Amino acid sequence: MRINMSVATVLAMLGAVASAQDAPLSPVAHPELWPKVQARPALDEDVEAKVTAMLGAMSIEDKVGQIIQADIATVKPADLLTYKLGSVLNGGNSAPNNDEQAPPAEWLKLADAFYDASMTRSDGRPKIPVIWGTDAVHGNNNIVGATLFPHNIGLGAARNPALMESIGRITAKETAAAGLDWSFAPTLAVVQDDRWGRTYESYSEDPALVASYAGPVVSGIQGKVGTADFLSPGHVIATTKHFLGDGGTGGRDQGDTKVPETVLRDVHGAGYPPAIAAGTLSVMASFSSWNGAKMHGNASLLTDVLKGRMGFQGFVVGDWNAHGQIPGCTNESCAAAINAGLDMFMMSGDWKKLYANTLAQAKSGEIRPARLDDAVRRILRAKMLAHSFEMGRPSARKFAGQFDLIGSAEGHAVGRQAVRESLVLLKNNGNLLPLKPGANILVAGKAADTIAQQAGGWSITWQGTDVANSGFPNATSIWKGIDQAVRAAGGAAAYAPDGTYAAKPDAAIVVFGETPYAEFMGDRPTLEYSPGDKSDLALLKKLKAAGIPVVAVFLSGRPMWVNAELNAADAFVAAFLPGSEGAGVADVLFADKAGKPAHDFRGKLSFSWPKRPDQYVLNRRDPGYDPLFAFGYGLTYADHVVMPRLDETRPAGMVVDSGGVFFAKGRVPDAWSLALGEGSGSTRVVGNTGRSPAGGLTVVGVDRNAQEDARRFAWSGTREADMHIEPNRPLDLSREANGELSLVVQYRVDAPPTAAVAVTMTGGGGAADKPASVAIGGVLRAAPVGQWQTLAIPLKCFVTAGLDAGRVTRPFAVATKGKMTVSIADIRVTRADVPIDRCGAI
Ligand code: BGC
Ligand code: BGC
Repeated sequence: MRINMSVATVLAMLGAVASAQDAPLSPVAHPELWPKVQARPALDEDVEAKVTAMLGAMSIEDKVGQIIQADIATVKPADLLTYKLGSVLNGGNSAPNNDEQAPPAEWLKLADAFYDASMTRSDGRPKIPVIWGTDAVHGNNNIVGATLFPHNIGLGAARNPALMESIGRITAKETAAAGLDWSFAPTLAVVQDDRWGRTYESYSEDPALVASYAGPVVSGIQGKVGTADFLSPGHVIATTKHFLGDGGTGGRDQGDTKVPETVLRDVHGAGYPPAIAAGTLSVMASFSSWNGAKMHGNASLLTDVLKGRMGFQGFVVGDWNAHGQIPGCTNESCAAAINAGLDMFMMSGDWKKLYANTLAQAKSGEIRPARLDDAVRRILRAKMLAHSFEMGRPSARKFAGQFDLIGSAEGHAVGRQAVRESLVLLKNNGNLLPLKPGANILVAGKAADTIAQQAGGWSITWQGTDVANSGFPNATSIWKGIDQAVRAAGGAAAYAPDGTYAAKPDAAIVVFGETPYAEFMGDRPTLEYSPGDKSDLALLKKLKAAGIPVVAVFLSGRPMWVNAELNAADAFVAAFLPGSEGAGVADVLFADKAGKPAHDFRGKLSFSWPKRPDQYVLNRRDPGYDPLFAFGYGLTYADHVVMPRLDETRPAGMVVDSGGVFFAKGRVPDAWSLALGEGSGSTRVVGNTGRSPAGGLTVVGVDRNAQEDARRFAWSGTREADMHIEPNRPLDLSREANGELSLVVQYRVDAPPTAAVAVTMTGGGGAADKPASVAIGGVLRAAPVGQWQTLAIPLKCFVTAGLDAGRVTRPFAVATKGKMTVSIADIRVTRADVPIDRCGAI
């Protein structure tokens, strides 16, 4: 009888397991399928007793305050005299005094001010220190002068877990030196589709590799759990993110990970058990959805799996206003997220409204009292374990204010080692590398002396753009590193971005690649490198045609289709985003005086490298796996491999777009078309000049900064005519339209319009095609004649006017019935300083 019962129970359980696996589209997790984290740290009874006592002494207002984190762009220290918030953060674009270049002393001063205000109260209730969180994702990267380690994709290639521990430790110390308490790292995304703009934040496409780094990096940041080192001075709180499935969204930022629960667990979840075992005190919920359900509202994963089954005892912090994306929620009101298991909202904007609404929900019981207490308990537990109550003011802490630790000697040394180990040698025909340092070396390419480009996103600014080399005072560019190495060995190196030279060099090193981006700004429709601008390829070809041996050093946040560039180079190094220690590149490229390589290549690809631009999902365990370079590939100096010529043809019909650039230097991206329409006809412009079917609109090439880098369009006013741009396949701009981006046009009015003018975007496709227009005649008439101007129209304006942004068939058209002459140099979707909610005033 008893035996029968248990067999029945087992069968029922098996049935439950099987049906969970068979139901891939259920957004409800089955905790029993997930691993228990046996090795997790035990609760400390003393800490728990203190937390219990503190909870008992707190008002409901205090509790609600603890579960809110506000961005320093919108919260001021004085606010914490009244509102006892649990935390503040600096978002990627926020800095003390609104100054991205604020010196470390300003960060520390502001940290003191927040701390002091949080601890000021006279009503006898508990004084709870506020903690400051920051994206120290590749070093303490928001602060000028900090060591910038290679982004995670390069670290994955290094295959060195012990190095992750050192990097975590140094980053924590550079963070603590500025008086900050908490880092939003590590990212344990297991990225499966490399079109995603956050691919570089991932160590690998391979769950086992990510899992092998999780423990060491968390231990480095926080110190080793269970020892006196844990959260000792110089360590900060870590955040394991983004829970869960961030790397599975089909290449779209904040997208939907459509996978069965077993894949969610085994691929995307792989890093969490070791991070929990290492004692990560916080986990960040993901912006993304799992099978259509937003993670911030998924109780079965946040509560039942993460906190229940895996036994995570720290707190779950939200992502940037992500709670507002749960159906029924807004940024200012979201009981559902807390009830699902979120412990702290990350809020930019009107956090006082969020506070008021959350307080009302706590009072009414809409947020369950036990849930609120649990959230606060978890936050207080982390603060106690991190010694936040004992450490005193930020500036009084050990290491705080020791600004020589920001960009320290150890940081430089370990950063440089990390660069050396992250480089992957993809091609070395004729064993061109290592180069002889005594030789005459030409360094070319725009990226060779541009630190922002080697650092990538999340470097001083969120996007990592617009920071001059002077904004990275302790960094070394790749060119500087080469120059030092070559000169030290008695050779000569010269830098010419465009590859010009006086005397023919012995070899050329061309450094080129992706320009910085973060998050959705880096989402791409294909893996083709720079489809709209082939000037880097032209440079490689020019040097090779001159008989110069060419070494390509390619900077990128992901593997890319570079067959043509590979063909045009004799040696090719994938350097990913190496960060501030550019000298690590020369360390490996050059032999010593005796001709022996001082450092060999050690990097092995942590992401598979595509042989076609449409191999977006290319992971080692996928069926039909057919990469150009497989996961784990990477030559050393002991290898003698001759790479044959690769196919350079782009698959027919593949969507081609250059990341939101519709028109650059007077040209549309490859495979797109520029056309002049009139009546029911239109003519495609092939060369530099063109005319509409009846000649009412003509175009010629004009010079702006270079020869023919713009076009002048002249409307004669005989009848309505338009110039328009069409991609070879419809574009999905829904994320961009949602992301506060604008359509930005560089133009010059040569003769003002005599009638109304409209800019139109068309979307829907086929019979569903629908134009959405914004009038710009007034702006053009007000613009000074003959001067280059920037026009920015928030994409949201087109959506309001009816655009189907998910299927844009014609991303740009400008039309008028009147007479006008306008020159255009550039059209793209990007961020602009325009109020995104006003379509009238542009
Ligand atoms: C990102 C997080 C980051 C947070 C704070 C979000 O947009 O997704 O990774 O930690 O912003 O800057
Ligand atoms: C980023 C923030 C950034 C903000 C700018 C967010 O998505 O995570 O760190 O400051 O966008 O709007």
